[in-house]
Amino acid sequence: MRIHKAVLPVAGLGTRFLPATKAQPKEMLPIVDKPLVQYAVEEVASSGIPMVVFVTGRGKQAIENHFDVSAELEQELAGRGKESLRRQLRRISGMVRFAYVRQQIPRGLGDAILTAQDLVGEEPFAVLLSDDVIVNETPCLKQMLKVFERYGRSVVAVQRVPRKAVSSYGIIRGRLVPDRDWQGRLYRIEDMVEKPSPKAAPSNLAVIGRYILTPTIFRVLSATAPGAGGEIQLTDGLRRLLVTEPIYGYVFEGTRYDAGDKLGFLRATVELALQRPDMGKAFRRYLKSLRL
Ligand code: UTP
Repeated sequence: MRIHKAVLPVAGLGTRFLPATKAQPKEMLPIVDKPLVQYAVEEVASSGIPMVVFVTGRGKQAIENHFDVSAELEQELAGRGKESLRRQLRRISGMVRFAYVRQQIPRGLGDAILTAQDLVGEEPFAVLLSDDVIVNETPCLKQMLKVFERYGRSVVAVQRVPRKAVSSYGIIRGRLVPDRDWQGRLYRIEDMVEKPSPKAAPSNLAVIGRYILTPTIFRVLSATAPGAGGEIQLTDGLRRLLVTEPIYGYVFEGTRYDAGDKLGFLRATVELALQRPDMGKAFRRYLKSLRL
C-alpha cells in the first residue's frame, strides 16, 4: 500500500500572528527567505509523495501563486542574467503535482481534512501542518512512511515535551512496540487527551503536525460533532478511529520548530539562519556582537 497524496490544510485564520496575517496567509510567512508552507511541500517531495492537496480558504491565493509558474518573473530574471535564481523559482512549481479545494468556513482541522475527501478518495494519505517545521536528514514524513509500510495503519508523529507544556498539545497514552527495528520510538496508542493539565496527562508524548491516515478517518470525522471552540477537532476524530483501528505514535528524529507561535517562529528563524552556508557566519558574528 503506497501513499500518493499529502493534504496540507492552510485555511486557518492565523489569529496568533495578527496583524501580519490580516492580508496575507500565515503559511506564507518566511523563515529567512522561504515561506513556511514551502518547507512542508519540500518534505512531501523528498519523502517520495507525488501530490499535494491544499485545503485553502479566503485570502489564501498567495499560496496558489507561490506554487504556480510565474512566466513574467522568470522572463525578467532570465533577461537580467539571473539564471540560477530563475531555475530555483521554477523548481518550486515542479516539486510535486498540486490540487486545491476550499474550506468555506474555517471550522477546524477535522473539517479541513474532511473537505479534502473527494480529492483524496478511498486511499490512505498524509497530512502536514506547515506550522510545524521539522528539520532532519531523513524527513519526518519519510520516517513515518516506514511505519505505515510495515503495518498499513494510521501513524501520528509524536514528540516528548516538558511536563509543564503538555496542556498545549494532544497527548497520547501508548504501549511501546518492543520491536528492535523501531529503537524504542514506536507506540501503539491506547488513548489521546486534548490539552490535559500536567497532573492529568497520561504521558509527555505530544502529537505533532504530521499524520498518515487511513480513509476510515473520513467516515469518523463526518460523524464527529464540533468540540472545543465549536470546531471539528482532529483529535476527537482520532479518538473515535481508535475504537475501530489501531493507531501508532512515532517519536520522530529531528528538530521541530513550532512556527505557529511567535517565539517558536523566532527560534526557527535564528537557528535556520545560523545553518545557512550563505549567511550563517555573518549572522553568528552579529548575534555575538549583541553581548546579551
Ligand atoms: P492552527 O490551529 O494553527 O490555527 O491550525 P490557525 O487558524 O492557522 O492559527 P491561529 O491558532 O488562529 O493563530 C493548524 C493548521 O490547520 C489549518 C491552518 O491553516 C494551519 O495550517 N486549519 C485550521 C485549516 O485549514 N482550517 C481550519 O478550520 C483550521
